[in-house]
Amino acid sequence: MSLRVAITAAAGGFGLVVARAFAAEGADVHVCDVDGGTVDAAAAAGLRASVVDVADGAALDGWIDGVLAAGDGLDVLVNNAGIAGPTALIEDIDPDDWERSLAVTLTSHYRACARVVPAMKAAGSGSIINISSTAGQHGIGLRAPYVAAKWAVIGLTKTLAIELGPHGVRANAICPGSVAGDRMRGVIAREADARGVAAAEVEREYLEGQSIARFVQPDEIADLCLFLASDAARMISGQAIAVDGHTETFHIG
Ligand SMILES: NC(=O)c1ccc[n+]([C@@H]2O[C@H](COP(=O)([O-])OP(=O)(O)OC[C@H]3O[C@@H](n4cnc5c(N)ncnc54)[C@H](O)[C@@H]3O)[C@@H](O)[C@H]2O)c1
Repeated sequence: MSLRVAITAAAGGFGLVVARAFAAEGADVHVCDVDGGTVDAAAAAGLRASVVDVADGAALDGWIDGVLAAGDGLDVLVNNAGIAGPTALIEDIDPDDWERSLAVTLTSHYRACARVVPAMKAAGSGSIINISSTAGQHGIGLRAPYVAAKWAVIGLTKTLAIELGPHGVRANAICPGSVAGDRMRGVIAREADARGVAAAEVEREYLEGQSIARFVQPDEIADLCLFLASDAARMISGQAIAVDGHTETFHIG
């Protein structure tokens, strides 16, 4: 039987690259995304794609239930959803932005896990992969809700590993460094604006503390997802694995 895979917020960004990598291995891949245009494009490319705002708990539950029913279970859940959130000092953050950041970047992970866990436990197998960030291992000035959510994703992952290990289900987090693409360009531009410095200066700072000083390529995240989903990772659970070229010192913002 093909591997049954669900990936949140993955009709665009690097989640789409992860989805395509699973599909190329013959997996039956479901993705959801809030952006209808990207969902149409992903569906045209052969993925099972649905419009869902993962911050809408009922909509996310409904999507997961549909995925479980379609495949009579699920082998791999990748919680990829996460928004950059506001770039501001703590006292200047709009509380609604805080709530929205946590709803997408943290609560959606909890909610999708809670929905798939009974089916994975019943099957006695499954792999949950939560996308955190190097921001889940360090602080970053001006990014409090994002950083708080990404640390919490690792705490959630470790708790899942404890609860699910006895049932044959594994849970791991991936901590990407700065990934090449539009998202990172936007993050750098907003930080440069907030600090009144050039974007090139911010980019230089992001890379200077890395042992391998370049941005991560999306397929480098996909490779780790495929590994963690595979039997080769059968004894790996509860880990937060960075794909960041090794962060020696973190940019402080
Ligand atoms: N890009 C990076 O440098 C980087 C680094 C570390 C961690 N991450 C994390 O990796 C994950 C993917 O990052 P990315 O750069 O591909 O993200 P992205 O900003 O490119 O967004 C990916 C997709 O998420 C969708 N999305 C946004 N809000 C949504 C919502 N409420 N409901 C459903 N879909 C929604 C977007 O439409 C988009 O198609 C995120 O969790 C992000 O925090 C990214």
